[in-house]
Amino acid sequence: MIEGQDLYDPERPLDWFEEIYRKAAGDMGVIPWGSGAPNPNLVVWCEREGRPRQGERVLVVGCGLGDDAEYLASRGATVTAFDLSGTAIGWCQKRWAGSPVKYVHANLLEADWGDGFDLVMEIYTLQAMPPQIRAEAFGKLAAAVAGELLVICRGRDEEEDAGGLPWKLTKAELEAGLAELELAAFEDFEDAVKKGTRRFRGVWKRR
Ligand SMILES: C[S@@+](CC[C@H](N)C(=O)[O-])C[C@H]1O[C@@H](n2cnc3c(N)ncnc32)[C@H](O)[C@@H]1O
Repeated sequence: MIEGQDLYDPERPLDWFEEIYRKAAGDMGVIPWGSGAPNPNLVVWCEREGRPRQGERVLVVGCGLGDDAEYLASRGATVTAFDLSGTAIGWCQKRWAGSPVKYVHANLLEADWGDGFDLVMEIYTLQAMPPQIRAEAFGKLAAAVAGELLVICRGRDEEEDAGGLPWKLTKAELEAGLAELELAAFEDFEDAVKKGTRRFRGVWKRR
């Protein structure tokens, strides 16, 4: 396994993503999030909520190797998935050749998604950004939302330390960062697979 902490450089806080995909050289087993399956915390939500709806326009932020994007497309959504890493996007295009998912090489902090999407989903990307960059990322995430935003991330209480990469978020930080949207649902739970890991799963709606 390649550890993000070993590649992370605070002077270039986002560069390690491209580096990790390059170093993996096509072996997803060495990427910490390269499980080869959709995220179970996303699957639970989709099955319980009956989402995404048929034809719903979904944007997957920091799509990595594309398992979540493909899962959402298999449930009837029209999916655009993007990642900062050109190597990850090339990997997706090869791995999922013929897929209806539109894979795009883009940086959340720079991209403009026009009128926005019915459903934007962000899983484990905010927590992989240092807090000073996250503030900017919140605004860009919200701007891409025409309908709803689903966030799944590591969670902590206010008085608890954020720790190192991946940094745990507080509910207050999420609410403040996404204040232009309305919080519609919030769950605080222990990851069923990664025991002892506290997760937040929240849904925000365009007001
Ligand atoms: C921790 S990984 C999680 C990947 C995927 N969401 C998952 O759960 O398997 C974070 C992903 O976000 C991407 N990423 C980080 N910063 C980004 C940015 N500013 N814009 C787009 N993608 C970004 C990384 O390249 C990486 O693929």
